[in-house]
Amino acid sequence: MSAPVVVADDLRQTYEIRRGLFREPARLQAVGGISFSIEPGRTLAVVGESGCGKSTLARMVTLIEPPTDGRLTLDGIDAVDPPSSERRRLRRTVQLVFQNPYGSLNPRKRVGAILEQPLAINTGLSASERRERVRAMMAKVGLRPEHDARYPHMFSGGQRQRIAIARALMLSPKLVVADEPVSALDVSIQAQVLNLLADLQAELGLAYLFISHDLGVVRHIAHDVLVMYLGLAMEQGPKDAIYANPLHPYTRALMAATPGVGPRTRERIVLRGELPSPLNPPQGCVFSTRCPHATDRCRQERPAPRPLAGRAVACHYAEDFLEGAEGRAVAV
Ligand SMILES: Nc1ncnc2c1ncn2[C@@H]1O[C@H](COP(=O)(O)OP(=O)(O)O)[C@@H](O)[C@H]1O
Ligand SMILES: [Mg+2]
Repeated sequence: MSAPVVVADDLRQTYEIRRGLFREPARLQAVGGISFSIEPGRTLAVVGESGCGKSTLARMVTLIEPPTDGRLTLDGIDAVDPPSSERRRLRRTVQLVFQNPYGSLNPRKRVGAILEQPLAINTGLSASERRERVRAMMAKVGLRPEHDARYPHMFSGGQRQRIAIARALMLSPKLVVADEPVSALDVSIQAQVLNLLADLQAELGLAYLFISHDLGVVRHIAHDVLVMYLGLAMEQGPKDAIYANPLHPYTRALMAATPGVGPRTRERIVLRGELPSPLNPPQGCVFSTRCPHATDRCRQERPAPRPLAGRAVACHYAEDFLEGAEGRAVAV
């Protein structure tokens, strides 16, 4: 097995929220201790409802925002406090693809110029070499190279996401962090972009941190899955194990809400109530206020992630959801 491209160890991000002149600022824990590693050619999917800390995690891993705590290593380099000689290499190791390519592509620049910019800033390539690389990359992501003089608005949504992917790949990163990259696209186009990402991964050995609120979207692209809730890991491990037998009630609820995903059980879990405010998270298990199986113990004692059936799960009662002899999960 090759060395991981990224190792995150107990990453945390806390924001101070000002509440007027005379009150202490409140502390909002957006990410409360997340750990993972991703090897070349592998995809970790991060899944959870809006507000659970996915984009905050993406900003830390792409070096946009340093973590308030924890360790991050990219391609063997300490990314939180990098040696100055390695800063340049570090920046090129990881690239981010956003949900909305239209917002992240300069509308006044031709696509060729957008794709060329990273090369002009970071390499000593000549103008003709840069142009050659741009056209080769356009072909690689399924765009016609002769369209390099067009502006972003002249492309469809799916094509614009291809441009954003091409731009992310111009400096040959080892890790691509994709934050809801297909959420703004029609379902038919989503599949094309997901296939492109899978092809590029196979060809280039890229590691992906793929963020989505939708378990259906990551189903075919993920090797491992991290299910987050209020900044914490609820369930984390190989995709096959988790999809075949989700053990955390939150994962089970997400699956029940996603048609065609997860084991067929009669259990219908409906997520009740609103996501609690991260400014005032529940005392014990953060999911206890919405969990149909919560007990007093859950409301008092926060479960730490623990190994069970090939993954880590943060639930006191996870054993109750192991597939029974009848092949049906037994509820509490
Ligand atoms: N810069 C910031 N300042 C204060 N709070 C923030 C900031 N960025 C995100 N948050 C809060 O952190 C939590 C996680 O947000 P985010 O990472 O955007 O979640 P997601 O991407 O899963 O929707 C939310 O409660 C959000 O309001
Ligand atoms: Mg987000």
